[in-house]
Amino acid sequence: MTQMRKLVNVADMKRDWWDDLYSRCRDIIARPGVYADSCRGKILASMFYEPSTRTNFSFQAAAQRLGAGVFGFSDPVGTSASKGETLADTIRMTAAYSSTIVIRSPQEGSATAAALYSEVPIINAGDGGHSHPTQTLTDLTTIAQKRGSIGNIRIGLCGDLKHGRTVHSLVEAMEMFPNISFYLISPHELRLPDYVLDRMKNVEQNFIESETLIDCIPELDILYMTRIQRERFKDAGEYRRLKDVYVLTKKMLDGAKKDMQIMHPLPRYGEIATDVDTDPRAAYFEQARYGMLIRMALLLEFMHLPREHPPITENDPDAAPGECVNPACITRSDTYLPRLVSRSGIDRCGYCDKKVSEMLL
Ligand code: NCD
Repeated sequence: MTQMRKLVNVADMKRDWWDDLYSRCRDIIARPGVYADSCRGKILASMFYEPSTRTNFSFQAAAQRLGAGVFGFSDPVGTSASKGETLADTIRMTAAYSSTIVIRSPQEGSATAAALYSEVPIINAGDGGHSHPTQTLTDLTTIAQKRGSIGNIRIGLCGDLKHGRTVHSLVEAMEMFPNISFYLISPHELRLPDYVLDRMKNVEQNFIESETLIDCIPELDILYMTRIQRERFKDAGEYRRLKDVYVLTKKMLDGAKKDMQIMHPLPRYGEIATDVDTDPRAAYFEQARYGMLIRMALLLEFMHLPREHPPITENDPDAAPGECVNPACITRSDTYLPRLVSRSGIDRCGYCDKKVSEMLL
């Protein structure tokens, strides 16, 4: 397996790494007993600065099913972060006590920042509206289990494509697989961010954009529904106007392929009516279980890696010297962070991929 010490962005994943990880996951599914003590003596640190049910629980369950211990928090109020401690210091301490750190934060780029200061592997469990690579592992596992392989599919991504970090990561991961066509279904206001669309164009991913779900349904092999992300809207009125824009009902599946799979990272908030749950095409609850199983495969790899001093990272001379325009970016609160080059372009922030301000360029 290609050696990897962190999973903070989908760009960290390579095709051979995925293939090895998935084959380990299949073995875990087939022979769970064999793995029951495979991480005995290891400890997972679970740092959740933002609400979570599935991601948090599935990581904890994954660690425990491998025989590892877990400590952490699901609300930062009880930690030194509430006393103003920097992320860098919190990470240094947490790494000293653990074998692997899982971090979720509303601040975009926080996992990238954490990896600069950690002696142990860092896993991004969601950084604001930016990315969510382990949900992508979950999604890929579900597609592979349901269809036998991942290539040659038409996938509809529907809902809040602007703020939906799971979608941003899934689109990027699909670059690894052949013949994928995307139907990007959202209101104009909630289209994919430009850095994601630009990357899709650069790597020649096939996509069309549409505002109408029902017209796309007959074409799709996979329909990936998402929640309108209330907590990421600046304007509550705009959220109320858009929140019920798509509601998938059983009736709407009449025109769908018989083997179409309906996926959703969950939680749902009305966008999939409960009458869809009994349809054999509804895959979203199984998807959540696959999330635990693929996270077991990931922890099994990361928890056994030797501790390593993090490299001393200084400002990258090629990075844009401006200030990130994104108020949710980790660099806005943790101003000591070095400037990094973004993989989405030289005028973008190396943490959250948003533009840096022109004034300071
Ligand atoms: C998603 C997330 O947190 O980004 N949920 C998850 O991790 N399973 C999707 C969401 O919150 O809408």
